[in-house]
Amino acid sequence: MVYLAPFAVALAALSALPTSMAAAHRAMVVHEEREVPAHFALAGTPSPDTPISLKIALTATDMSGLEKVAWDVSTPGNPLYGQHLNYDETRAYAAPHPETVSAVTKWLNENGITNLTTSGAFNDWLAFTVPISTANSLLKANFQKFSEVGGPTELTRTLSYSIPVDLKQHVDLVYPTTDFVRLSKGPRFEVHKTLDKLATRDVSASCQSAITPQCLQALYGIPTTSATNSSNNNTIGVSAFLNQWAEKADLEQFLKAYRTDIPSTTTFQEQNLDGGMDPQLPGAAGIEANLDTQYTVGVATGVPVTLFSVGSANTDGGLDGFLDLANNLLNQTTTPGVLTTRFNEGDVTQALAVNLCNAYMMLGGRGTSVIYASGDGGVSGSQSQNCTTFVPTFPSGCPWVTSVGSTNLTNNDAGNLTETAATFSAGGFSNYFTIPSYQNDAVNLYLDGLGSMYSGKYNSSRKARAYPDVSTNGVNYTIILNDVLQIIGLKASVGGTSCSSPTFASIIALINDRLIGVGKPRLGFLNNRLYAKATSGAFNDITTGSNPGCGTNGFPAAQGWDPVTGLGTPNFGNLLAAAMG
Ligand SMILES: *[C@@H]1O[C@H](CO)[C@@H](O)[C@H](O)[C@H]1NC(C)=O
Ligand SMILES: *[C@@H]1O[C@H](CO)[C@@H](O)[C@H](O)[C@H]1NC(C)=O
Ligand SMILES: *[C@@H]1O[C@H](CO)[C@@H](O)[C@H](O)[C@H]1NC(C)=O
Ligand SMILES: *[C@@H]1O[C@H](CO)[C@@H](O)[C@H](O)[C@H]1NC(C)=O
Ligand SMILES: *[C@@H]1O[C@H](CO)[C@@H](O)[C@H](O)[C@H]1NC(C)=O
Ligand SMILES: *[C@@H]1O[C@H](CO)[C@@H](O)[C@H](O)[C@H]1NC(C)=O
Ligand SMILES: *[C@@H]1O[C@H](CO)[C@@H](O)[C@H](O)[C@H]1NC(C)=O
Ligand SMILES: *[C@@H]1O[C@H](CO)[C@@H](O)[C@H](O)[C@H]1NC(C)=O
Ligand SMILES: *[C@@H]1O[C@H](CO)[C@@H](O)[C@H](O)[C@H]1NC(C)=O
Repeated sequence: MVYLAPFAVALAALSALPTSMAAAHRAMVVHEEREVPAHFALAGTPSPDTPISLKIALTATDMSGLEKVAWDVSTPGNPLYGQHLNYDETRAYAAPHPETVSAVTKWLNENGITNLTTSGAFNDWLAFTVPISTANSLLKANFQKFSEVGGPTELTRTLSYSIPVDLKQHVDLVYPTTDFVRLSKGPRFEVHKTLDKLATRDVSASCQSAITPQCLQALYGIPTTSATNSSNNNTIGVSAFLNQWAEKADLEQFLKAYRTDIPSTTTFQEQNLDGGMDPQLPGAAGIEANLDTQYTVGVATGVPVTLFSVGSANTDGGLDGFLDLANNLLNQTTTPGVLTTRFNEGDVTQALAVNLCNAYMMLGGRGTSVIYASGDGGVSGSQSQNCTTFVPTFPSGCPWVTSVGSTNLTNNDAGNLTETAATFSAGGFSNYFTIPSYQNDAVNLYLDGLGSMYSGKYNSSRKARAYPDVSTNGVNYTIILNDVLQIIGLKASVGGTSCSSPTFASIIALINDRLIGVGKPRLGFLNNRLYAKATSGAFNDITTGSNPGCGTNGFPAAQGWDPVTGLGTPNFGNLLAAAMG
């Protein structure tokens, strides 16, 4: 009956809205609209009988109730702390109300659409395929062809769509309609690399020239001893999209070179979805997937790692791959302890951003720490972008993910190795998500120091979610990546926040293992704890460097939190002590 009040309001507004005869005499209201994105151009009108696949996200029974519980179970000191939800408890909030399902189904049936497929972890998505003419009249849309400027992509999208006024409470969004985000296939991080023969370099002095697991262990005090309590309660989930997969032989080579203290046969499990694959063909693995597996298996000693390879079957090749993975995890009895993902560029629509962010909120409530790379374009969001205002990245703006920026190890004036902000480390302020209370004080302190610098270039309202939350080294990571000639022992050196995310994820997984060992719950959603006073000594504050972009020097790193390196880089011992406390 929770639906009565909003309906009454919507009905009262009905007389002010245009009515449509086309869509079965229902009054329609614009649900989402946008301009043509800068990198796309109109490319003609598709034939009206071309089929198009659409998916409707149904609203949850009680999303705000779920949000409150997810917050409580993740807040140290709260009586519910650590009592993570199981699948059924999550479902009670997240599944659409039966009234929602029937109202939306009825509307579709009225329009002759009866072949509906349900999907999502809570049957919260309805999918169907119709001719474009039907899609246009159903949604008062104008589906057109758009082609990527200078690229091969052609998409059928509409710049606006409507839904019946009386379904406003029931429909979250219709996908893909106004969404133009494409998953970037190649690694978006800087590849500093020269490939050279492994044998020609002394790897023991690694920190001096390039990063290895041993170097990270030394830098952050990460233990080398094996996890003992992780089994299936504390796995690291590594995500890979667009058919990227990792080469097991490369991992073995990597462990032989850089983790001589553990069996080189230590490996990862795989789960493929949406036609994702893992052919283990020599020389064909993804750089990103190899990096992620080598720096989770190689750093989170003894913690089980699962690579989720998401293909593009059943997807539109956009962020629905991210959604499918989140739903797949939410549908499992035990979710991973930690999930690490690279970021994706592109101007995601607010409705889709919120939908995906809610899925991460649910994962947090289930006890998964969702960790994302912040992005590699400094304040410009992506590496090769012309911009006059700073471009926030997604999903870092989602307050339910932990966003990880990067630092760079350099020699200071005294010749000592020291950490400074990496120039590419993306950071800034979201235009979609409001500032969560956990970071209010930290962010305001930074903005006080910044004063009017860059005013007008970023969301300085003090009401915007700011990121990254933390950072780790992200420059010059050594990875093994065999080339197509299958010459064993080629290594590359890569950099980017894609390096920092698996490193931080590994640290959290090792802390989870120790918590489970003393009968404590795993950490789950991290940010309430990371910003808490009790955790303040757990980070090495990074105070030098900045993240240039958009023709500026970018935000300067500073004492305390900053939008380049977040709270700083982790000190394992102190972070563990804070987590145990
Ligand atoms: C119903 O839709 C599914 C998925 O789109 C499709 O595979 C199937 O052939 C359709 N069935 C009918 C009877 O149209
Ligand atoms: C959820 O899991 C059940 C049982 O394992 C399976 O039948 C169902 O298809 C899954 N749903 C999704 C959305 O993955
Ligand atoms: C990165 O590593 C290469 C060797 O692999 C080294 O020549 C270079 O100086 C390193 N760069 C930095 C910034 O550490
Ligand atoms: C694993 O997690 C489940 C759910 O959180 C919990 O009931 C169980 O006790 C955990 N097992 C161990 C060994 O910690
Ligand atoms: C950025 O602007 C410059 C000067 O207008 C232009 O030459 C360059 O191609 C632009 N780069 C991108 C990535 O649009
Ligand atoms: C440099 O390192 C040496 C040896 O660890 C130490 O004594 C000295 O204080 C350091 N100097 C600076 C400026 O960090
Ligand atoms: C890292 O530091 C080195 C030495 O100061 C510098 O040349 C390089 O540009 C820096 N790289 C990044 C990504 O910050
Ligand atoms: C800045 O962030 C706030 C809080 O999310 C939001 O209400 C506002 O619209 C944002 N401003 C701009 C210009 O996007
Ligand atoms: C943690 O692992 C140790 C060593 O395998 C074992 O003795 C202990 O019972 C485990 N604790 C829990 C809570 O599973």
